[in-house]
Amino acid sequence: MSIIGALKWRHSLKHFSPKKVDTTLIHNLIEAARLSASSYGLQPYQLLIVQDPALLQQLSDQAFGQAQVKECSHLFIFANKTNITDTLVEEYFEHHHQQTQTEVGSLNGYAEHIKTAIGAKTEEEKHIWAEQQAYIALGSLLAEAAMLSVDTCPMTGFDKAAFNHTLGLTKKDLSACVICAVGYRDENIQIQNKVRLPLNEFASFI
Ligand SMILES: Cc1cc2nc3c(=O)[nH]c(=O)nc-3n(C[C@H](O)[C@H](O)[C@H](O)COP(=O)(O)O)c2cc1C
Repeated sequence: MSIIGALKWRHSLKHFSPKKVDTTLIHNLIEAARLSASSYGLQPYQLLIVQDPALLQQLSDQAFGQAQVKECSHLFIFANKTNITDTLVEEYFEHHHQQTQTEVGSLNGYAEHIKTAIGAKTEEEKHIWAEQQAYIALGSLLAEAAMLSVDTCPMTGFDKAAFNHTLGLTKKDLSACVICAVGYRDENIQIQNKVRLPLNEFASFI
């Protein structure tokens, strides 16, 4: 099954209708993000979902007044982890052993390899790496939403420090990196044609 038709249908909405997205569909979007690929499978980010209108209004103010943030049904906030240490790797292998029924300790060599690779990164490199992983999950969410005919608007136009403060993220060793407004289009709005690089400028066979 191809998702091309859904990707052609989807647009980053500037305005949403008041219609709310059903909880079941919201859980589908969460699951699409959760099942996303990530480097070593470490998923160095968390997802927060905001639906409280007063909080959405406050966050819209902190997103340069962008209407999507206050008009959407749910606002998904991808927050990368900021304290990336060996613990992240150890927690991953706890889950790994539980979920694959492999013997505890059987993957210690591989775990050490990952710890060494991550430990060699500077704090800035870790931050960028963690954000990159969150963006992959955002892509999964956008694709799943399109398949479900749910509208979205991915956004980085927001005051990160203000979001972190409002949502209490800093003290949880998290930092908002990209957000996604989720909801429905008003059927009367005019959707513009997509603008994309022509195929011959985008991809080449070598
Ligand atoms: C990482 C990222 C950040 C974006 N930030 C914003 C934003 O702050 N506000 C906005 O209106 N659109 C934002 N967009 C939407 C893009 O402008 C949009 O995806 C692009 O113009 C292509 O249009 P389409 O998504 O409708 O096909 C963002 C998209 C991405 C992927």
